[in-house]
Amino acid sequence: MARLHLLSYPAVLLICSVLVDAFPQYRITVPSPANFTGLKRIPDAAHPYRAPLAWEQRGPCPGLNVMANHGYIPRSGVATFEQLIAGAQEAFNMDYNFAMAVSAFGILARGNPLLGIVSIGGRTPFVPPLPGIPDGIPGGFSKHGRFEGDVSLTRADAALGDHVRFQPEMYKEFLRHVKEHGNGTDVVTMKAVQHYRFARYQDSLKRNKKLVVMPGRRGFGLGEAGFVLDLFKNGNRTALDVATMTTFFQEERFPKDWTRRDRPYTFIDILMAADTITRGFKQPYGYNAPNGTFIHDTSDPALEHTRCGVYVSLVRDNVPAVLLKTSGLLRENVDTLVKAMFPIFEPLGCKDLLQPGGPAWT
Ligand code: HEM
Ligand SMILES: *[C@@H]1O[C@H](CO)[C@@H](O)[C@H](O)[C@H]1NC(C)=O
Ligand SMILES: *[C@@H]1O[C@H](CO)[C@@H](O)[C@H](O)[C@H]1NC(C)=O
Ligand SMILES: *[C@@H]1O[C@H](CO)[C@@H](O)[C@H](O)[C@H]1NC(C)=O
Ligand SMILES: *[C@@H]1O[C@H](CO)[C@@H](O)[C@H](O)[C@H]1NC(C)=O
Repeated sequence: MARLHLLSYPAVLLICSVLVDAFPQYRITVPSPANFTGLKRIPDAAHPYRAPLAWEQRGPCPGLNVMANHGYIPRSGVATFEQLIAGAQEAFNMDYNFAMAVSAFGILARGNPLLGIVSIGGRTPFVPPLPGIPDGIPGGFSKHGRFEGDVSLTRADAALGDHVRFQPEMYKEFLRHVKEHGNGTDVVTMKAVQHYRFARYQDSLKRNKKLVVMPGRRGFGLGEAGFVLDLFKNGNRTALDVATMTTFFQEERFPKDWTRRDRPYTFIDILMAADTITRGFKQPYGYNAPNGTFIHDTSDPALEHTRCGVYVSLVRDNVPAVLLKTSGLLRENVDTLVKAMFPIFEPLGCKDLLQPGGPAWT
């Protein structure tokens, strides 16, 4: 069975890439923003929970997994740019520009920009490589590097363990911090998240010889901790409780009687959350050298910039430059996606629209 799978995969890829060359082209369009962005009971009757089937893709993002398990994005786990943006707005009230930027980055880094799709989990024949395979086989969000990265809350670093699936042992440690740094109730406090996230960073620093936390990943990792506090929280309650958080992380479904937040969660919101999480708990960007020394190289002023460093790190270093050596509809789509990442950074004083400059095949 396993051997059949291994043998057949290249054949499927070959067929798919031939089909892509011949197939109708797909022009990525920027969808219009959601019209209603207030409190709303989620899920509605049209989005019941259904556990994923074996072939359906799930990955390192609990938010996307939950959305797929309820059909807010396709249950297959393969989604278009438009579907990711619409789903994140509807299910979690993620801000339109914010959803647009992360979805664009996801497709550029780990999906297929000609078809405008990405797997929220691992590689699948439904997301074939680009014609000519200039950037390898799209790995999906489960592929380590570019988007998925080190120092996650409930997934191990790729060099140390399972970086894709929920890790109960890590979650126990999270809950231990909730107990220790909570306020005597089952509330998940900011203080608990600060301490737990800092402990995760220290652990990776110490044990992961291949640790990489450059500004893009560092920013996203801190942001994801903000997602937990601000997006998993029931919009009708003042704080996030353990039971609600556990339903999201462990069961990957919406809790009973859950309501999404009452206003869109913007990039500014998450920057503020990230600032609070690191206040008193410094976690510089950098990487571990093979001898285990942490290298915080400050020689690149573009990366040193507090806000735009994230943008530079993502686009310049984590979107492959070969995407610019394309033409026709593929190039149009690449341009659309690259532009779609800019609106969250432009107001922060990041003056120039950047172009992909990263290595291919990583
Ligand atoms: C289109 C929108 C989104 C995309 C493309 C996306 C993508 C990702 C990816 C690739 C990761 C893995 C990063 C890593 O830890 O290595 C991740 C983590 C995470 N995402 Fe999302 N995400 C999206 C929306 C959301 C939403 C709406 C939520 C809602 C709560 C969410 C919550 C999280 C959390 C909590 C983590 C960290 C998990 C952990 O560290 O254990 N995401 N996301
Ligand atoms: C919002 O409303 C306008 C006008 O009715 C409509 O054209 C647009 O498609 C709506 N947007 C979404 C995402 O439904
Ligand atoms: C909570 O939010 C919903 C919207 O989902 C609203 O209809 C309801 O009245 C609110 N209050 C409670 C206690 O559920
Ligand atoms: C714990 O914190 C929550 C949220 O900040 C608050 O609603 C609750 O009253 C607090 N409980 C105690 C015992 O301080
Ligand atoms: C470890 O490697 C780094 C980078 O190569 C180097 O700068 C540092 O001096 C080394 N430290 C030790 C203790 O060998």
